[in-house]
Amino acid sequence: MTDADQSQDNSTDPTGGATARSVLVTGGSRGIGRAIAERFAAAGHRVATTSRSGEAPAGVLGVRCDITDAGQVEAAFTQIEEAHGPVEVLVANAGITKDTLVLRMTDEDWQQVIDTNLTGSFRVAKRAVRPMIRGRFGRIIFISSVVGLLGSAGQVNYAASKAGLLGMARSLAREVGSRGITANVIAPGFIETDMTAELADDLVAGYKKQIPLGRLGATEDVTAAVEFLAGDAAGYITGAQIPVDGGLGMGH
Ligand code: NAI
Repeated sequence: MTDADQSQDNSTDPTGGATARSVLVTGGSRGIGRAIAERFAAAGHRVATTSRSGEAPAGVLGVRCDITDAGQVEAAFTQIEEAHGPVEVLVANAGITKDTLVLRMTDEDWQQVIDTNLTGSFRVAKRAVRPMIRGRFGRIIFISSVVGLLGSAGQVNYAASKAGLLGMARSLAREVGSRGITANVIAPGFIETDMTAELADDLVAGYKKQIPLGRLGATEDVTAAVEFLAGDAAGYITGAQIPVDGGLGMGH
């Protein structure tokens, strides 16, 4: 039986009893995306990652793809479908920051962040949805950020892109819910990765004071929530935003 056949018969993972899925994580060469890919692979799923550079984790199909390029997105999906069958779980994780105060923010700073974080997520979700409709199953998980709803000085572009993911997820949830497809958002707070390593020490200390749990998060905190939303137990959850932020964004 080929990998593609397995995706059709929903065969089960002998180790965990969960349904083995074809999973795609964008931006999976490092940070949160890499941790998500590793977790799905360890649970017995067929996992692919796309990234512009870097290597995929062991046991994961790594595909070169810049999500700002529609042609590369199409080619990546074709390659993944040949190897693993149609994508059943999409984690739209790839994202960038270009932080600066609004008076200094150029159109290019704005455009690059929106094109990667919001339009890039749209491109992969749109490409994933048709085969999901055919298969009458799909889990779309957008990785947003606490700042999408909280706001953040110096991140007008980034916060707008991340808030936009919620509107996209909720609209998708309404469009394709009747086909067995869920669309949800995870909003991490400050997670220890290369992205947050660039933040100034005093800024991090200030944030820790505002986080009820008093610490930055670990990538595992995010992967646990992603795994839950992708799993069989979350089949009745759609259009939701799950915070993984130590309480930083409470009330928003
Ligand atoms: P990271 O910078 O370590 O990794 C980002 C990944 O996205 C990399 O693999 C990169 O190659 C990929 N990527 C960026 N632009 C791309 C493009 N045009 N095409 C394809 N891949 C591209 O970042 P990190 O920290 O792992 O963040 C992952 C996601 O989580 C991002 O969407 C970020 O906004 C979000 N997030 C991160 C938080 C944190 O504290 N680290 C907090 C809240 C949200």
